[in-house]
Amino acid sequence: MYVCLCHGISDKKIKKLAIDEGITDIRGLKRCTALGSQCGKCVKQAKAILAETEPFRLKQAC
Ligand code: FES
Repeated sequence: MYVCLCHGISDKKIKKLAIDEGITDIRGLKRCTALGSQCGKCVKQAKAILAETEPFRLKQAC
């Protein structure tokens, strides 16, 4: 599912960046993608997806 329609960024891409690259916040996503740089409507949903990936990030770190 697309989260950021302006830049074609999907929930899968956000999850992959969070888990593989260790991105934990919107600032990190913005460094790697253009997410939120146009209308900004995607930021709230992107934050929720980052929160969903937190258990997987913790598991990977241990
Ligand atoms: S939907 Fe992401 S900037 Fe518009």
